[in-house]
Amino acid sequence: MAAWRSLVLTLFPEMFPGPLGFSLAGKALERGLWALDVLDIRDFARDKHRSVDDAPFGGGAGMVMRPDVVDAALAAAAERWQQDQGVGAEASVVYLSPRGRLLTQDLARELAAGPGVTLLCGRYEGVDQRVLETREVFEVSVGDYVLSGGEPAALVLMDAVVRLLPGVMGNEGSPGEESFGAEGFEGLLEYPLYTRPAVWQGRPVPEVLTSGHHEQVRQWRRAQAEEITKTRRPDLWARYTKGQR
Ligand code: ADE
Repeated sequence: MAAWRSLVLTLFPEMFPGPLGFSLAGKALERGLWALDVLDIRDFARDKHRSVDDAPFGGGAGMVMRPDVVDAALAAAAERWQQDQGVGAEASVVYLSPRGRLLTQDLARELAAGPGVTLLCGRYEGVDQRVLETREVFEVSVGDYVLSGGEPAALVLMDAVVRLLPGVMGNEGSPGEESFGAEGFEGLLEYPLYTRPAVWQGRPVPEVLTSGHHEQVRQWRRAQAEEITKTRRPDLWARYTKGQR
């Protein structure tokens, strides 16, 4: 099977691969476990000023990305997909936006299971609504806050997906097996971690961790993960306890 591929449409192509050129994702990129292409949206501007945006109809602050320019960029992206992955290959087109479906581990898993994504990064106030509709764009948000553009959100999405791809974390298993949260405790937040020195600034690590009793360690970690989830994220805790029933 061809490697998972992301094709990013942006006004700032230099932002990629950025942090994804390092560490785990960077090594996986070098090894061809995933592929990254970037198209500069400005290359699809048609007027002599190469303008990509204009004032919003109805008035208001800021500028809106033009539908004709974005449409031409998306058409080029679709063509690139066909060339690289073969006729009929189709990646979902994701527009990074605070209005979108919240990026969760489940969504990252869904995207990792597909052939890849085209990621449309907006700047200014956003993209003309019509092109989002005609191109059947799927909107994804990385959280309930507003970024100055879609690029950091696209990097977040790719990072979450790439680490799930077979071979990237040393796991050859399917992405579906990757859990959210604490190692071995699906749906719970991470328990506290400790390493050497065993005593640091007068603070010893919890005794159970140096006891060599694997089952006791497991129980302690589970209790910690449950307590942290309960107090910090009642929403995750509610879902977890519902799933246990
Ligand atoms: N663009 C601006 N803010 C965003 C967010 N929270 N998620 C995704 N894309 C965005």
